[in-house]
Amino acid sequence: MRVEKVIYDGDPGHDDAMAIIMAAGDPHIDLLAVTTVAGNTTLENTIKNALMIMDLMKLDIPVVPGCAKPLLKKLQTAPMVHGQSGFEGPEHFVPLRQASKEHAADFLIRTFMESDGDINLVAAGPLTNIALAMTREPGICDKVKQIVFMGGGRYGNITGAAEFNFWVDPEAAKIVIDSKCKKVMFGWDLTEKAIVTPEAFTKISEIDSRLGRFVRDLIEFYALGPAKGTEILPTINDACCIAYLINPEIFETSDYFVDVVTTPGISYGMSVIDYYRMNTWDMSPQPNVTVAEELDLDLFWEIMLNAIEVFD
Ligand code: BDR
Ligand code: CA
Repeated sequence: MRVEKVIYDGDPGHDDAMAIIMAAGDPHIDLLAVTTVAGNTTLENTIKNALMIMDLMKLDIPVVPGCAKPLLKKLQTAPMVHGQSGFEGPEHFVPLRQASKEHAADFLIRTFMESDGDINLVAAGPLTNIALAMTREPGICDKVKQIVFMGGGRYGNITGAAEFNFWVDPEAAKIVIDSKCKKVMFGWDLTEKAIVTPEAFTKISEIDSRLGRFVRDLIEFYALGPAKGTEILPTINDACCIAYLINPEIFETSDYFVDVVTTPGISYGMSVIDYYRMNTWDMSPQPNVTVAEELDLDLFWEIMLNAIEVFD
């Protein structure tokens, strides 16, 4: 059986939690560590939230704190979606497990540089930690198997132009997109198709474990949507990256040239995707990113539900 080694960098966050559970619960993934970054909520909260998930799964892997703010911008979080704690819904508890003392950028550099080039980096928050690691050690890209990230997209979800992860730290997104690492992108327009269907929610509600109940309560809050009071079908964006590593055939992908707008203004943080392949006429550079475009939602949920059920 093919097993992919993964380091997960993110900002838990409701959908980050689901991505981490999918990675830890599926036999095709060897989850080595979780590094966290400020994004959906403060760095302090993302660490605590990641540790709570580790406690619920009884999983002893490093949880490594990274950057508390974006490279240049001031931090803007998403309490309207994830609540003040980033994890609104379930009852919180004090995690037994502790975060690592090392900084995420140092951890990423050390781990990748010592590796055989066989570790995937999944990035599902603002790309601050990864941009910092790449800036300090550009050789890291020779060692990262691929960066599979949730961010960008054909249209925005936080401004008309920009997706949240890119908008929080556009300069970091630009550094990562411009890097020579192999990149696979799960943008907003694709990941908003990864909805929690009523059937999936019913099945989650039937999972009688501490983790299952925690996930149910997370999703109940998440389904209130940004307007709180108008229920939505919430989207498990970040878990698409993990699902891809488990079974790439869940998705259709194509290679495109992608760039990021780093000029402050209406399109700050927007990803520009050369969908009509202007590179064919030498009007744009050659493709630099594999972009996911379609997903099989039934297969996605089969993997997600199996992973939650692994934990008692
Ligand atoms: C992304 O932003 C966050 O709200 C989610 O965790 C996801 O990574 C979606 O735009
Ligand atoms: Ca996230």
